[in-house]
Parts: sequence; C-alpha cells; structure tokens
Amino acid sequence: MAFNKIWYTVAFGLLLPFSYAHTDFFTSIGHMTDLINTEKDLVVSLKDYIKAEESKLEQIKKWAEKLDQLTDTATKDPEGFLGHPVNAFKLMKRLNTEWGELESLVLKDMSDGFISNMTIQRQFFPNDEDQTGAAKALLRLQDTYNLDTDTLSRGNLPGVKHKSFLTAEDCFELGKIAYTEADYYHTELWMEQALKQLDEGEVSSADKVYILDYLSYAVYQQGDLGKAMTLTKRLLELDPEHQRANGNMKYFEYIMAKEKEANKSSTDSEDQMEKETEVKKKDYLPERRKYEMLCRGEGLKMTPRRQKRLFCRYYDGNRNPRYILGPVKQEDEWDKPRIVRFLDIISDEEIETVKELAKPRLSRATVHDPETGKLTTAHYRVSKSAWLSGYESPVVSRINTRIQDLTGLDVSTAEELQVANYGVGGQYEPHFDFGRVSPVLCLHLFLLHKRCLSLFQVANYGVGGQYEPHFDFARANEPDAFKELGTGNRIATWLFYMSDVSAGGATVFPEVGASVWPKKGTAVFWYNLFPSGEGDYSTRHAACPVLVGNKWVSNKWLHERGQEFRRPCTLSELE
Ligand code: OGA
Ligand code: FE2
Repeated sequence: MAFNKIWYTVAFGLLLPFSYAHTDFFTSIGHMTDLINTEKDLVVSLKDYIKAEESKLEQIKKWAEKLDQLTDTATKDPEGFLGHPVNAFKLMKRLNTEWGELESLVLKDMSDGFISNMTIQRQFFPNDEDQTGAAKALLRLQDTYNLDTDTLSRGNLPGVKHKSFLTAEDCFELGKIAYTEADYYHTELWMEQALKQLDEGEVSSADKVYILDYLSYAVYQQGDLGKAMTLTKRLLELDPEHQRANGNMKYFEYIMAKEKEANKSSTDSEDQMEKETEVKKKDYLPERRKYEMLCRGEGLKMTPRRQKRLFCRYYDGNRNPRYILGPVKQEDEWDKPRIVRFLDIISDEEIETVKELAKPRLSRATVHDPETGKLTTAHYRVSKSAWLSGYESPVVSRINTRIQDLTGLDVSTAEELQVANYGVGGQYEPHFDFGRVSPVLCLHLFLLHKRCLSLFQVANYGVGGQYEPHFDFARANEPDAFKELGTGNRIATWLFYMSDVSAGGATVFPEVGASVWPKKGTAVFWYNLFPSGEGDYSTRHAACPVLVGNKWVSNKWLHERGQEFRRPCTLSELE
C-alpha cells in the first residue's frame, strides 16, 4: 500500500523547510487574512465602477429626456418647427455629431479599472482545491466535535465572535462535495439540511429536484430503501417527467418486492446482519474514536488518586543561575508519560516577533513520497509551518537558550524552531515525534524476546481507512529519517502555545487518554524516548482540528546527541 511507504517521509518532511507553489489557503488563517484584504480592495474598485456606470447612465438619461421633449414638440408640427432656422441648424448638428457622441458614450467601457484589478488579484485567488479543502475541513469538524448539521448551518458554534450561517445553496454545495468523495453519510446530512431550509421558506436558487436526486441516491447507497423511495416519490411530485427518478422508482420497487419475498423465508439472517454491522461500527478504528473523544474533552483517563499526585511548583531549572532569583511556574499536566507545562514562559512581544518572522515563510506542511520522489500534502497533517534559526533573531536565540536552561538538555543538536499555524480544520493526526527505534536495541530486543519487530507490526495495524493512524519513525528495513543529521533520535519535544484557541485545537495523547489545552504563553514538555533510547509509545499524540479560531504553536525537537551526560542512558529498556 502506497500509504505504508510514505510514512517515513512524514518525519523527513518535518525536517526540511520545503515551500510549495500553490499556497493552500484554507490551511492557515495567516494567509487567509491576506485574502480578506484583497476582497476589501476589490469591493472598493467595484464601487468605483458602479459610480462611473451610474454617472454614464445619468448622462444618457438626461439626453433621452431632452430629446424626448424635443421630438414630441417637433413631431406635432414638423414644418412649423423647422421654420425656425435655429431648429433646422440644431437638427443638423444633432444628427451629424451629437448622436454619434452619444453612441460613443453608450459604448464606452467603464469597467477598465475594476477588470484590471480583478485580473491582477485573480492570480492569488483560491482554486477549486482550496474550496473543496475548506468544505472537507467543515465535514471533518462536524465529525470530530459531534456537531449537529443544523447547528453548524445556523453557525451556532461555541466561542464564535462573528456569527455566520450557511444558505440552502451552501448546504447543497457541501453535500455535493461529500457526494464526489462517495461520502454518502455527509451527503445525506447536508442535502437534508438544504431541503429543510428550503421547506422553511428560504429564498434560494437551489433546486429541490436536484437536492432530492442526490439525497435519495445517498440514502439508497446507505441501504435505506424505504426512505429512498419516499424521497424519489417526492421528487416525482415536483417533476413527474424526471427520467432517472422514474427509472430508480421502478428499480426500488423491484428490489423491495424481491426483499419481501426473501424476508418471508428468513428473518433471522437479517438480525444477524444487523448485529454484524453493529459490531463493525463499534470496531471501526478505535484510535480515531479515542482521538476524537479526547478532542471533545471526553474520555480523559485520569483518576482522582493519580490527580492528587500532580503538583505545581516554582522551578529554577535545577539551580540554573538565570532562574534562581526568578523561578518559573511549572505544572504537572500528566504523570505517565510525564508532561509538564511551563506558565508565562514566552511573552506576547516574543510571540509577535516569532509570528512575524514566520509569516512570510509559512508553507503547507509537506511529506516526501519516496515512490514518486515528489512532495505531497497529507490529509493527516493540515497546517502551515516555517523554521526559524537562532542566528536570524536574538529573540529566537533567547528562546532556544530558555529551552536549554529549563530542560537541562543541549539545544545545539536540536532542530531549528518550528512555527506552525493551524487554520480552521487544521490538525495533525496521531503520530510519534521520535524517528526510529535504535538499531542496536532493536536487534537486542528482537533476539531476546522478539519485541522490536512486534512493535513494528503493531505500528501498521490500522491501515486501510481514511484516517489511518501512522507512525513517524522509520522501520527496520527503511532508511533512517534522522540519519543525515547525525544527532540521533528526537529525545524530547518542547511545544509553545502561541495563541489561545476559541474552540478545539487540543494536543491529545490517545494511548493514555490525555488532553492538553492550548493556553497562550505556556509551553509543554515531554520525553519521547526512555533513558534507554527506546521510543516511548505512550507519547503518541495528535493536534485536534481547530473548530473556531486560529492556533499558533512553535516547537523544538531536542535530539539525543549532546545529552549523554545530561540524561545518561540506561541499559534496561523501559527504565
Ligand atoms: C507536532 C505536534 C501538536 C500541536 O507538530 O509534531 O504534535 O498541538 N503538534 O500542535
Ligand atoms: Fe508531534
């Protein structure tokens, strides 16, 4: 499966600051704000155009009125009228020059300014891919956060500042996008919503016949023959000559009759089938379920007993001279794996600087596909990111030093500071930050108790659905994603939250049932590897889709090299 082969490059993609020709607007609010300004600009030039067109029309109107009066008088008594020499002269003048001038005015194109502005700006417009991407993001959010279609359409989301609703036509559009993805579940929800809004009297160009056509098909595809028939009947009431609907109706009736026949002989097998689909539904990608629940703030696996052992403290970086007089606030977020959060650890000014440095370089996070040798974007990582080096700004350098002081780990072998921006729907599905299992240990474990290999087998279990869980570390027979760096594996992760998120956007750990909520100015830290160098599988984590708002984070991946005396390794695998 191609998917199996691109996983190792996920990690690879993280390391290289590739940029992409098309910008994928929907993945980052940072870039979308530019579009808002573009639109504002276009509205101004459109208004200028309207003004010009109106003044032109005004001139034409005046001319018409004047001539209307004149011709009225003239036609009543043409000879008398022309008996006046001035009238005769004026008639000549009008017909010889003035009507010609008017013709030029009528033909005059007032749209130049607007059209040229439009032509320039259009180069930077989102394309079909962006529109589909944004629509899919909406559908994804609907699933993750259990949003009812009507709530989403009326824009009743938690924490929104600018309420906005979907028209019946918008709902129809979403349904069509789901349909082209063969996602009949969402097709049904959105076509039904479009229909509901039309039934409630919404004025729209959306056509009930079209909606019913899609809807009945989606319902049929999901196995509800009775409902598909009712909908098709409704369509035929609106358009009795509809060819496909008439054909479908006959077909449905035929199948219905056949099923009745079969039902007479066995009702048991149906029960059996129902049970089977029930089981299938329950079994469907448990990790995805866990992940989505944690994103909604459900399914946290913390017990009061364990909770009692989580503390907060002032931390001086283990008697670090820079922090003895001004220790920082540290909180235990989780016990196993140990996740700590630092409070007020990055100032608003520093955040602004980091964002400004990153903004012009943000590009869609890409992964490298070894099969095609090309960079591609992956549905499981929807965000934009950029890398900042300590050399380019004293702020970045200061941040790096802070991480070193507070973790006690050497940052000289760490990767550069990665800044990521998630727009609405932006997410990063469950993954590990570490890149591989150490080969010596792998061999050792394999010889001892076949452990290492089995881990890899575990790694590939869920592949097949749309939301496959994936592993970022390299497999034994594949090249090591971090080899070229010569700095070993990603020993630990430091993650700054550089914004609050109005709704959604948590960092969750599905293996252990932990959720960490973004809070501006804080940072979390955890070790990805055991002291032995072995990957800690409980650190599997994900960035939940942003529901409302905009998420900025920045992370530092610390590597093994340089930590030999700071965090000595052990021989026992899980110590
Ligand atoms: C990552 C990551 C979590 C988050 O970038 O590797 O896991 O909440 N991010 O953004
Ligand atoms: Fe991560």
